[in-house]
Amino acid sequence: MSKKRMLLKKDMKEKRELINIEIDRFLPRKDEYPKQIHKAIRHTLFAGGKRLRPYLMTNTYKLFRDDIEKTFYIAGILEMIHTYTLIHDDLPEIDNDDYRRGRKSCHVVYGSDIALLAGDALLSYAFNALANAEIDHRLKYQMLAELSEETGHSGLIAGQVVDIESENKKVSQKTLNFIHNNKTARMINIPVRFGCYMANAPAEDQKRLAKFSQKLGLAFQIVDDILDIEGSKATLGKSPGKDEKSHKATFPSVYGLERSRKMASELIESAKELLQKYDEKAKLLLMLCDFVLTRKF
Ligand code: IPE
Ligand code: IPE
Ligand code: MG
Ligand code: MG
Ligand code: MG
Repeated sequence: MSKKRMLLKKDMKEKRELINIEIDRFLPRKDEYPKQIHKAIRHTLFAGGKRLRPYLMTNTYKLFRDDIEKTFYIAGILEMIHTYTLIHDDLPEIDNDDYRRGRKSCHVVYGSDIALLAGDALLSYAFNALANAEIDHRLKYQMLAELSEETGHSGLIAGQVVDIESENKKVSQKTLNFIHNNKTARMINIPVRFGCYMANAPAEDQKRLAKFSQKLGLAFQIVDDILDIEGSKATLGKSPGKDEKSHKATFPSVYGLERSRKMASELIESAKELLQKYDEKAKLLLMLCDFVLTRKF
């Protein structure tokens, strides 16, 4: 492993542990009545997971300010929302994946009924935690409005709906981009945007970093599609080969593997270019871009 990758790995692990402490702090205990729902929530939330979205938020903030611990609370909320999307995405009615984050999926252990409700509970809880955040009220309302819009019927959910509707169909490039930009890139844009908001970043930087996260988000899902073909269950922590089995609209299914790899790599290169201005301060974000492209999990 290269020196850079080792440094990133160590830093991601450190931040992951801090975020986990934060999430654990505001989550109901697993023996709280009714137990099943609290156990189910924790099952997937604490199964592992890269904590990429919190990491992105913290590191975007770090471009402007050093007191990164101020981001952990909101970053934890974003991870709760992301985890709800995974629990629901795995349900038999959606992707029917019985393995997630290196363990049996939530519905396999707790049943589809409880898994559905665990996702619902995480989503509600995330908004409740945001409503109770001890931050500037105007900023809080802005985040509440944007988060509900980005994850809602015209955002993440729209991406998931078109993803399902596109199974077994030949889709246009436009539709494929719509799916990926909505189901995945939205939840990659949000942490970058919120990191900027919390750091009070200048408008010009917010614009630049929005472009950065858009490219990173799309590249992230293209690589996810590639890993579904090339990855192993043990390393991925989820079942590979599911996209082809369900005839999903993916980048490799539309463009082929080689072209998809090239597209992801070009997106990452232009994402990295947008970080040049921040020099040393963007060191970890630059490494994260490389990680997104070459990751195996
Ligand atoms: C998986 O996201 C779902 C996609 C948007 C492709 P991650 O690859 O970030 O999953 P975890 O959080 O590490 O489990
Ligand atoms: C999932 O995309 C996106 C969301 C969960 C919103 P995928 O269906 O490709 O994610 P994986 O491969 O199951 O993690
Ligand atoms: Mg899916
Ligand atoms: Mg899936
Ligand atoms: Mg996938």
